[in-house]
Amino acid sequence: MKILVVGGGGREHAIIRKLKENKDVAEIYALPGNGGIASDAVCVDIGAKDIEKIVAFAVENKIDYAVVAPDDPLVLGCVDALEEKGIPCFGPRANAAIIEGSKVFSKELMKKYSIPTAACEVFSDVDSALEYVATAPIPTVIKADGLALGKGVIIAFTREEAVAAVKSMMCDKAFGKSGERIVIEEFLEGPEVSVLSFTDGKTVVPMISSMDHKRIGENDTGLNTGGMGTIAPNPYYTDAVAAECMEKIFLPTINAMNAEGRPFKGCLYFGLMITKDGPKVIEYNCRFGDPETQVVLPLLESDLLTVMQAVTNEKLAETEVKFSEKNACCVIMASKGYPESYGKGYPIDIPQSVKENVYVAGAAIKDGQVVTSGGRVLGVTAIGETLEKAINASYDMVKEIKFENSYYRRDIGARALKAPEVN
Ligand code: AMP
Ligand code: GLY
Repeated sequence: MKILVVGGGGREHAIIRKLKENKDVAEIYALPGNGGIASDAVCVDIGAKDIEKIVAFAVENKIDYAVVAPDDPLVLGCVDALEEKGIPCFGPRANAAIIEGSKVFSKELMKKYSIPTAACEVFSDVDSALEYVATAPIPTVIKADGLALGKGVIIAFTREEAVAAVKSMMCDKAFGKSGERIVIEEFLEGPEVSVLSFTDGKTVVPMISSMDHKRIGENDTGLNTGGMGTIAPNPYYTDAVAAECMEKIFLPTINAMNAEGRPFKGCLYFGLMITKDGPKVIEYNCRFGDPETQVVLPLLESDLLTVMQAVTNEKLAETEVKFSEKNACCVIMASKGYPESYGKGYPIDIPQSVKENVYVAGAAIKDGQVVTSGGRVLGVTAIGETLEKAINASYDMVKEIKFENSYYRRDIGARALKAPEVN
């Protein structure tokens, strides 16, 4: 089989490695892929948002199955366009990807179907938004409606910050059209859990839970990033919490999307907060998370392609999806300066002994050498019998990987180790 994977980050690298385990897979094309993915797939210089070129490539190369991984092409209708040409895909159509593409849509969906989430108000004009924040409880959370590279959320701890956030989104257009409408919501507290799930619109199968570390600095300080590391499973996601999530969040969400005429097929990601009033939805993503995928898929014991095809063919209920009982940790190595400005083009030295545990996110090939090309450069995943062993093994490998100006957090998994469920 010839497979096409749209995207070019660490998440796509993890998906590609897993797909390669299937003996029927003859060739994988990554569009655009990256300098590290090039060791595992044929990288083609077509951007993930260039739907027309992606479809033309797929038709020309007689692709048998396509996996659309990032949010942008999903929201832009990449799956719809490929399916029109008869190419089976993994990923939701645009009318379902809106669950991530518009926060206003997802908040209204949750309100309509009584799915637990932070209380919120939606604003499309700046004066009403400013009037609201003048008396809103502080801290408050201000979110741009549309996609904003994971940066469209501002938690305002003072009223001045709240006013500034509203103005930057609605007057200065910090996130362009994504900020034309904003959501202002209640500040929630509690440990966060990421649950990725496979769903074919009828059945929902949660994958092993995980925990992201979004801030750049140790002890969760500093700016938000795309994610600096993950662990799985997440010890705060107990069996009782999982059962409550299935009943009050996962199934109601799938049913709500069906009722709206927007059946969701693909990977639906639930970003949850375990509050004192129970689990609540912080966000939905219409795709695999990054870097959650880099800990979740290595623990998947079932064949990924088989599961993905079962989602496409709406046969998930009859398909086994089995995860290992072990633990995984992924530490992201980034370029110093990320998520602001950083240098690029530094050669990356990855010893052969650790290569199969490395998922490359931001690298290019220059004169035959793999060099850094992004803020998040790579992720190093280790699996262990215990969480502590997985964390230690991951850091042991990180120490062997060298590139100039590298930066990584030294406390990935530290919060999880302190969870009452671990001790
Ligand atoms: P999002 O992009 O919606 O996942 O938001 C980014 C991060 O902001 C989340 O991972 C949370 O840490 C935080 N966050 C979002 N919404 C809330 C909320 N209502 N209360 C507290 N923290 C939040
Ligand atoms: N790790 C969070 C995300 O993929 O959006």
